[in-house]
Amino acid sequence: MKIAFAKIGRPKKGAVVASVLEGGKLSPTAAALDEENGGLIGKAIAASRFTGKAHQSLTVFTPAGRVLLYGLGDPTKLDPQWAEAAGGGIYAALASSGEKEAAVVMDRDDAGCAERAAHVALGAVLRSYRFDKYRTTMKKEDRPTLEKLTFMVKDHAEAKKLYDVEAAIAEGVAFTRDLVSEPPNVLYPESFAEHCVALKKLGVDVEVLGEKEMAKLGMGALLGVGQGSRRESKMVVMRWNGGAKGDQPVAFVGKGVCFDTGGISIKPAGGMEDMKFDMGGAGVVSGLMKALAGRKAKANVIGVIGLVENMPDGNAQRPSDVVTSMSGQTIEIINTDAEGRLVLADALWYTQDKYKPAFMVDLATLTGAMMVSLGEETCGYFANDDKLSDALKAASDAVAEPMWRMPLGDAYNKQMDSDIADMKNAGPRWGGAITAACFLERFVDKTPWIHMDIAGVAWSRKDRSTTPKGASGFGVRALDRLVRDYVEKA
Ligand code: BES
Ligand code: MN
Ligand code: ZN
Repeated sequence: MKIAFAKIGRPKKGAVVASVLEGGKLSPTAAALDEENGGLIGKAIAASRFTGKAHQSLTVFTPAGRVLLYGLGDPTKLDPQWAEAAGGGIYAALASSGEKEAAVVMDRDDAGCAERAAHVALGAVLRSYRFDKYRTTMKKEDRPTLEKLTFMVKDHAEAKKLYDVEAAIAEGVAFTRDLVSEPPNVLYPESFAEHCVALKKLGVDVEVLGEKEMAKLGMGALLGVGQGSRRESKMVVMRWNGGAKGDQPVAFVGKGVCFDTGGISIKPAGGMEDMKFDMGGAGVVSGLMKALAGRKAKANVIGVIGLVENMPDGNAQRPSDVVTSMSGQTIEIINTDAEGRLVLADALWYTQDKYKPAFMVDLATLTGAMMVSLGEETCGYFANDDKLSDALKAASDAVAEPMWRMPLGDAYNKQMDSDIADMKNAGPRWGGAITAACFLERFVDKTPWIHMDIAGVAWSRKDRSTTPKGASGFGVRALDRLVRDYVEKA
């Protein structure tokens, strides 16, 4: 969808979006339209349940065309999170309306109006994401009509400048959503890696390790997961060097299980198709790298993703196998379906060992237990460092990607001890998201570290304000914000 910014006025074609405050007070544009049309707007409001409450909307037709009244709610609460939700709401109200374009007249000329316009535009773009490349028979009349949104606002040049930064982030989110939406016969470790290599044209340094290189490095944990697959396992290292030369980098590490059958501990058939999104952590890391490069972030950032396919096969690993990780620690495989932690064990160790980052954040669709804990609304995370934890929480709040800190601790950690090796890969059922995090912690030395279990949030089963149903890209925006506020401003 095309986004433009212009000075306040009346559009020559397309729909007009005008705002109304809670209680029904019309914006100047809405009031002018009301007057020009003999009180039509006021009558429509009176005849409806529209009161101007935040994110309510009402469509009114005047002889000159469609007017979408949009509820501002409380004028003291028009923050960026409100603005993004409003952008999503406006897009959703107009997407399939028949209109090809619309102008959003933002005629509150307070100090925050340019920033607000940029965020409304961002919300609309995020909501307009679609993945329909595999639909060949979809009729034209079933496709959205809206092609262009113009934001009319004082300081439209400033709004455009702010939006250009946000647009780079939206492209990162779309990249993640594309990767996560792709079916696993199309997106497997090697083809995933090719999408990352394409980031080179944005200035990202990309290196792809194959099984031979990983074997040389001793990554027995990751390689064990992939050994039952016909597809070669890969590890991709992406580097964005936007900071000062020699500045310590920060690192993001993603679980990239392109498909998780469970392996020999095979999953039940019902719902197994969901496991195409088991590369969601790697998808977020890739989208984040694209966003950072797109907005030319002034930071040195490493993105590492472990790409495998977990399949049952004559060569697949067995429950009771013992593997040796790159760290030297041995792992008894209790359940081949607890594979994500094995991939991350080597990816985290490698990242820490090779790049000595100031901090590491890993993301993984790691456990069903996390979905039992927090459902599909909130991402649970674990941290070994309070300052980093607080910084992530602040970033999460700023972009409305809800997160909640979960506990670590010795009592949980010791549940991962094995009778025969240094640890086992699966513990008791209760507290399964926590013991999984404790397992990962064994592969982190003194580096400040966060583990985000995105099992519940990587895929949305319903439309949300800025996320259409499907792959969400959850995490790209919060981590971009973490880099912006905690790394670049430090
Ligand atoms: N990829 C799954 C976790 C998952 C489940 C993510 C549902 C998203 C939706 C992971 O590899 C897995 O299978 N975890 C097991 C671990 C158990 C065997 C210790 C689980 O959560 O059941
Ligand atoms: Mn699994
Ligand atoms: Zn998995």
